[in-house]
Amino acid sequence: MNHYHRFDCIIVGAGGSGLMAALESSRRVGTAVVSKLYPPRSHTGAAQGGIAAALANLEEDSWENHAYDTIKGGDFLVDQTAAEILCREAVEGIYELEHMGLPFDRTAAGRISQRRFGGHTRPNPKYDPNAAPGTDAAKPRIPVMRSCHSADRTGHMILQTLYQQCIKQGVTFFDEFHMVDLILEDGECRGIVAIEIATGQLHVFHAKSVLLATGGFGRIFKVSSNAYALTGDGPAIAYRHGLPLEDMEFYQFHPTGIYKLGILLSEACRGDGGIMFNKDGERFMERYAPNLKDLASRDVCSRSIYQEVRAGRGINGKDYVYLDIRAETMNKYKSSPLHPGQDVDSAWVEKRLPDIIEFARTYLGVDPIREPMPIQPTAHYAMGGLPTDVEGRVLRDVSGTPVPGLYSAGESACVSVHGANRLGTNSLVDLVVYGRRAGRAMADYAAARSFAPLPSHPETKAREQIDALLSRPRTEPWAKIRDEMQVTMMENCGVFRTEETLTKARDEIAALKARYRQLGIQDKGSVFNTNLLEVLELGNLLETAEATVAAALARRESRGAHSREDFPDRNDHDFFKHSLVYSHNENQTSVVYKDVDVIYVEKHGERVPKYPLEVRKY
Ligand code: FUM
Repeated sequence: MNHYHRFDCIIVGAGGSGLMAALESSRRVGTAVVSKLYPPRSHTGAAQGGIAAALANLEEDSWENHAYDTIKGGDFLVDQTAAEILCREAVEGIYELEHMGLPFDRTAAGRISQRRFGGHTRPNPKYDPNAAPGTDAAKPRIPVMRSCHSADRTGHMILQTLYQQCIKQGVTFFDEFHMVDLILEDGECRGIVAIEIATGQLHVFHAKSVLLATGGFGRIFKVSSNAYALTGDGPAIAYRHGLPLEDMEFYQFHPTGIYKLGILLSEACRGDGGIMFNKDGERFMERYAPNLKDLASRDVCSRSIYQEVRAGRGINGKDYVYLDIRAETMNKYKSSPLHPGQDVDSAWVEKRLPDIIEFARTYLGVDPIREPMPIQPTAHYAMGGLPTDVEGRVLRDVSGTPVPGLYSAGESACVSVHGANRLGTNSLVDLVVYGRRAGRAMADYAAARSFAPLPSHPETKAREQIDALLSRPRTEPWAKIRDEMQVTMMENCGVFRTEETLTKARDEIAALKARYRQLGIQDKGSVFNTNLLEVLELGNLLETAEATVAAALARRESRGAHSREDFPDRNDHDFFKHSLVYSHNENQTSVVYKDVDVIYVEKHGERVPKYPLEVRKY
C-alpha cells in the first residue's frame, strides 16, 4: 500500500456542508477534506439568491413560520423534527456565518438584509375569512422577506468564508483527489479510496468516520443548472455497496434557467419583484397560484411554465417564456417589496442582481435592464440522496439502522427536510445546519474509538475498475452514453412523467449501463487523465439515474416535484411515505417505503399532528 493516510475524520467534498462539517470536527479531532475540485470551485459557490432564516429583520417572522412553509413546500413529505431543527438552528447559523466575516448585504439600519423567495410566507395580519375573494384581506398568508443575501452571490460568499475559516483552523486538504470507493468492512465504514488526479495513483484514506458531502447529480439531465462535477459520486458508490437511496423520485426543476443552457437565473429575480410572462404578455402565474403568483413553490412554477408552453403560449410558439426584471415592469405591477409606495429604478435592480444581469448579457445577448429574458425550467436540485438521521448518520434500512462510521450532509444526503420539493434558499441553510451537526457527530464518534483495521488490500476493487477501463479497447465515445442518458432523463423522467415514459427511461438506462460495462477509454495515461475521471463519473450518474427512475415508477401518485400525469393526485393513503431504492446486481432494483416523521401535539385533550396534511395551494 504505497499511499496511505490516516485521519480520525475524512470528509469527501469541499462544498458548504463538507467545509462546515470540517470546521466542527477539526475543533476536536484530526480531520482531512478530500475533494475532486479545488475547494472554492465547489458548486455551493453557484448558489445565488440567499440563505433562509427567520431573523425578522424586515418583517415579522418566526422559525415556526419557516418550519410550516418548509413542510408545506415539501408537500408534507418532510420529516418534521428535521424541519424544526433546520429552521430553529438556521438563525444561529446565520449569525455564526456573520461572525466569521461573511459580507451579507445590509438594511438601512445595518442589519442583515433579507429578500423574498418562493413559498416563504407569514400569516397575513389583515386576514379576514369573510373578505371578498381575490382581495388582499382574503389571503391567509403573504410572502415574507426571509432570505439573507450577498447580492446574488450568496453561495460564493459562504464558500469563501468557510474555506478561509478551515484554512485558519488547520484543516488538511487533499485537493483534486477523486473518491473511487468506500471501505466498508464488517458493516462499518473505515475509510475511502481515492485517485490523485495529478498522478493517477490510488490513495487509501483510513478513518474512524467518513462524511460524504459530494453534492447532487443534476448532470443526469440534459438541461441543468448543475456544474459538470455534480455526478452523485457519494450516493452512487454507497448504492453500489448495497446501501439504499431515499426519495430519489423527487428532483427539482428550477423554473428560471437560461433557455437551452440551463444556467440559473436566481429566484431572487422574482423575490425582488420580477415577473414571468407568456407570449400574450399575461402574468400567467395568476392562473396557477392566485395568492403567491410568481412566488409559488418551484414545482408549481415549473409545471405552470410547461402548461403554458403546451397550451401554445410559449414565446414565438417555442418552449420558453419570459422573465422580466425591468424596473418599469416592477413598478407597473408594484411587485418590488422593498419600496412600498415608491418606484424602483434600474440602478437598484443592477445592485441587487449583478450576476444575473451579467449572465443574461453574456450568455443570451439580452440586456435585462431593457428586455425580458427567455427562460425554461432547469434541473437544479435532488431532494433525495443517502438516508440520514438528524446527526448525519447514514441509515441502511426502513428501521433506521445506522452504518457505523458513515455520515452524509448537504445535497448528497436526504435527512429529509425538503420532502417532495425544496423551498429556495433552504439548501444553503441545510448545509450549514446539517453540515455542522454531522461534523459534530462524526467527531464524537471518532473521539470515542480507536482505528479499526483495514481489509488487506482495500484498493483492490478500485484498481480493478480502473484497470478494466484502461485495458479495454475504446468501443464508443463515452460522451455518447452520457448524452443519451441526459436526453432520456429529460424527456421521460423530467417535470412530467407517466408509466409509459418511465418504463422507456428504465429500459434505456439499463441498455446504457450495459454499454457502459463494455466501455474502454482513449487516454491510457496517468497524469491528469480527465477522460478516466469523466468515465468514472458517468458510471455514478448512471447509478443515480437508475435509482431516480426506479423510485419514480414505483410512486403512483403526484406529490411535489414528482408529477405523474397518469396519477395526477396526491395519494396520502398509499404514499405518505419515503421511498428507499436498493440496487441488486446488474439492473435489478427494489423499492421499499418508510414512515414520515410526524410531530404530534396535545390539542383539546387529543393527540393531533402539529402540521396536519393540507391540500397544497399557493
Ligand atoms: O434561485 C436561486 O437563487 C437558488 C437558490 C436555491 O436553490 O436555494
